[in-house]
Amino acid sequence: MKKLMVMNLKMNLDYSEAETYVINIKNKISDIHDVIFCPSSPYLSLFQSSGYKIGVQNVFSLNKGAYTGEVSPLQLKSMGINYSIVGHSERRTHFHEHDKLISEKIDGCLANGIIPILCIGESLEEKQLKRTSVVLNSQLSNDLKNVDSDAIVDVVIAYEPVWAIGSGKTPTLSEIEDVISYIKKNIKAKYNTNIKVLYGGSVNKDNIKAIINISNIDGVLVGSASIDSDYLIKMLDLID
Ligand code: PGA
Repeated sequence: MKKLMVMNLKMNLDYSEAETYVINIKNKISDIHDVIFCPSSPYLSLFQSSGYKIGVQNVFSLNKGAYTGEVSPLQLKSMGINYSIVGHSERRTHFHEHDKLISEKIDGCLANGIIPILCIGESLEEKQLKRTSVVLNSQLSNDLKNVDSDAIVDVVIAYEPVWAIGSGKTPTLSEIEDVISYIKKNIKAKYNTNIKVLYGGSVNKDNIKAIINISNIDGVLVGSASIDSDYLIKMLDLID
C-alpha cells in the first residue's frame, strides 16, 4: 500500500530558491509512495511543473467574495490542486484558528473535491496530564462536525503532537502507534469506516524509516526536513 508523504514547506524559500528546488526534485523521487508538496501559495504553479502532487498549507472556507488576502477552495480546485493542510497547530496558535473555522474549512474543501489533511495533536502540558485522547476526541468531534459518512473517506488526519513540531523531539514508536490506533478507532466508531492517518512532528532522515514502518501508519507529514531538497531526496531514498 502506497504511503502518503506530505511535505509542508511552511513559509520558506524565496522565488529563485523555489525554482532551484523544483529543478532539483524533478524525477528524483520514486513513486513508490505518494509525495505531495505544499509550498507557499504564490509558488503553486511553479511546483505544479515538478510533476508531483501539490497541496496548500491553508485554505479559506468560502468559495468567493470580499475576503481580502484569502484563497478559496474553489480557486484551488480551478488550478487542479487537490490537497490542503487544515488546522495546522501553527495556524491554531499564531492565527487563532478555532475548531469552528477549521470545521468550515473542512466543509469547503470537501464541497470542492479537495482532500483536507486535518492536523490534530496535544500540547506538552496536555500530554503530561495524560489528556491526549480527550484532546484528540474533542478536535475530531468539533473539526469534523458536519462531515457525514460518505465524505469522511476523503479526509486524511495528521497526528501532530504540538510539542514535537520543529522541536527535534518525537513520541516513541509505540506511542505513535497507540495514538494512530486511537484515532482510527474513534473514526470507525462514529462512521464505521477506515481513513488514513499520518504522523507529523520532527520527522527526519534518522527516524523516517522506523516511523513509516509503524504497522498502522498511512504516511508522514514532514516540515523542516523538506526545506532542503538535497536532504529531502536523500531522506526519501532511505525508504524506497
Ligand atoms: P517539523 O514540522 O517536521 O518541522 O516538526 C511538521 C509540521 O509542522 O507539519
